[in-house]
Amino acid sequence: MNFDFKDQTAIITGGTRGIGRAVSEAFLAAGARVVATYRGDDQAAEEFVSANRVHAERLSLEKFDVGNYAEVEAFFRDRQENGGPFQVLVHSSGVRKDAVVGLMKEDDWNHVIQTNLTGTFNVCKLAVQSLMRERYGRIVVVTSPIGRFGFAGQSNYAASKAGQVAFARSLSKEVATRGITVNCVSPGFIETDFIADLPENQKKAYLGMVPMKRFGQACEVAHAALFLASRESAYITGSVQEVTGGL
Ligand SMILES: NC(=O)c1ccc[n+]([C@@H]2O[C@H](COP(=O)([O-])OP(=O)(O)OC[C@H]3O[C@@H](n4cnc5c(N)ncnc54)[C@H](OP(=O)(O)O)[C@@H]3O)[C@@H](O)[C@H]2O)c1
Repeated sequence: MNFDFKDQTAIITGGTRGIGRAVSEAFLAAGARVVATYRGDDQAAEEFVSANRVHAERLSLEKFDVGNYAEVEAFFRDRQENGGPFQVLVHSSGVRKDAVVGLMKEDDWNHVIQTNLTGTFNVCKLAVQSLMRERYGRIVVVTSPIGRFGFAGQSNYAASKAGQVAFARSLSKEVATRGITVNCVSPGFIETDFIADLPENQKKAYLGMVPMKRFGQACEVAHAALFLASRESAYITGSVQEVTGGL
């Protein structure tokens, strides 16, 4: 299937690195205008823009913290006043800060919940207000199967990811008659900076759990996001598409 997004604008949070970057690049390749957002890594953002300079006229960057409501609100207000409508939101930004529960710092719990779960509320709330006016929209939230399985040392991350699915399913029901779909993509182990810091023995153990015996590539997640964000996926909402190599 060849998706055509030539008449559309896609906002991709966490769109400068890892899975989000691959999603941004997939939308650029499909003809969309892309607004890629990030938190603070200017060097990675500049490298991403430079690698995609052939699409420069359709690519812009925005920097804000998804966990900060005022910053998210300012971004969407500015879009409404100066940027024109958008049709697609792929919410990919996310963090992890691992520790077993007995040793987890309160700050690490709060940071992960604030960024991953409250960030999802902040971004989706402001996005859906715009999409409702257009009576059309596609929201794709990047979650994780760890929200379903649970993983030792990742209770904060797992809780935030399970919460994202519950949030997305609830939102999908609220906007179902407005031409707006809300779905999740749930990647397994994907080769990005996100898992680069894991100890080798842990990576080996994770690899052993994957029936395909390989980690996924970010572009393999991006293709699923593109599918769910297409006009053709009009009757798919409240779903979770796993991209896990069979995990
Ligand atoms: N990689 C995996 O194996 C895997 C598996 C399952 C699910 N996921 C999920 O996939 C999503 C993307 O992961 P990834 O592997 O692409 O991670 P990544 O390579 O670490 O990239 C994370 C992106 O999110 C942005 N970000 C982080 N905190 C933010 C904040 N508070 N406000 C705004 N932007 C923020 C980062 O911006 P900066 O560059 O400025 O830091 C970066 O662009 C996450 O939600 C993660 O939970 C990943």
